[in-house]
Amino acid sequence: MSKQRVSRRQFLNYTLTGVGGFMAAGMLMPMVRFAVDPVLKASASGDFVATTMKESDLTTEPQRVSFLVQQKDAWYDSEETRVAWVFKDEAGEIVALSPICKHLGCVVDWNTDSKNPNRFFCNCHNGLYEKNGMNVEGTPPMGPLDMYLVQVEDGIIKLGAIEPNRNKGA
Ligand code: FES
Repeated sequence: MSKQRVSRRQFLNYTLTGVGGFMAAGMLMPMVRFAVDPVLKASASGDFVATTMKESDLTTEPQRVSFLVQQKDAWYDSEETRVAWVFKDEAGEIVALSPICKHLGCVVDWNTDSKNPNRFFCNCHNGLYEKNGMNVEGTPPMGPLDMYLVQVEDGIIKLGAIEPNRNKGA
């Protein structure tokens, strides 16, 4: 039976490598967890947020509603104010349009251009949209206004994620 001897130098090398590895892992693990943790958490994008608007207050005339959304941008929590134009369409369906113009991102207003009544108007470059959010041909926007998902709970309008306009091509 052969006996392999470990020199003092080898023993020190093994010991220092092992201890150094443990110390490095102890320092790196919290950093890796901190870096990866927000990415692994479930996003709250499917949540609906209550507005101050009651369903009973809705008419066929678009009304401006603002509401607060909790934003989680990886490591940073914040609140963002969002706006929607909310109304009931001819079929009685609740419609909530995003006010963000599809040309260069300005904010549209309802019925503020005297030459184009009952349309959404973007005064940055005279963009126009029909009441259902469809862009008016011949004006700068190339697509319709996006829509919020809508829910009604206890008579209160709740708004969710933003989706492409369902009237597209209608
Ligand atoms: S940003 Fe609305 S028309 Fe240009």
